[in-house]
Amino acid sequence: MKVSVSILSLEQNIRKEVNKLAQTSADYMHLDIMDKEFVKNRSWNYKEIKLLLKGVKKPYDVHLMVCDLKSYIDDFKKLKPEFITFHLEAIDDIDFYINYIKKLKIKVGLSIKPDTDITKLLPYLDKIDLVLVMSVHPGFGGQKFIDESIFKVEYLTQVRMDNDYNFMISVDGGVDDVTVRRVAEADMVVSGSYITSSDNYEEAIESLRLKNN
Ligand code: DX5
Ligand code: ZN
Repeated sequence: MKVSVSILSLEQNIRKEVNKLAQTSADYMHLDIMDKEFVKNRSWNYKEIKLLLKGVKKPYDVHLMVCDLKSYIDDFKKLKPEFITFHLEAIDDIDFYINYIKKLKIKVGLSIKPDTDITKLLPYLDKIDLVLVMSVHPGFGGQKFIDESIFKVEYLTQVRMDNDYNFMISVDGGVDDVTVRRVAEADMVVSGSYITSSDNYEEAIESLRLKNN
């Protein structure tokens, strides 16, 4: 199981803690970008995140919870992230943005909110690198894992197998050492508050790595 650590819930000495997280074995640093329009919260703009991540070497996993996708992609591409993930619910022209990100040589992720019908992803699954299944309502860290997400992971695993697709399945929100077991078929989990509120980041990260993948 790959682990992408979300820094959203860090409150004190953020730069120092981000640097500590960068020294752990986490596979990615998950950056939750919110515009206070697509969700009820605002996080960092590009300039702020650039300062925050100064000297951090981890690969970035950018999660855009924004409406004005074009301008955010044009900013955040400068970080040279491994993934840029956007929301199916944010725009109409999904194919356009899949191709736009691909042309930048950045892997494309598509995310869905907990209430969105999983079958809406079907037309895009052969074109993307990652599906980000939201297991909380996007906007805030520290929420409770929504169990309906388990079915979505099982469904996606089946569709991927039936069609020989290659996308990764990532689960975001409320993931800790207990809930991770409910989505053991996923390839990656995003975890924020569980890791950042622990006394030992590395131990918390290791507790999320299930043996099966
Ligand atoms: C929610 C974000 C998540 C969240 C994860 O909108 O997308 O990445 O911060 O944090 P926890 O693990 O605290 O739910
Ligand atoms: Zn996220």
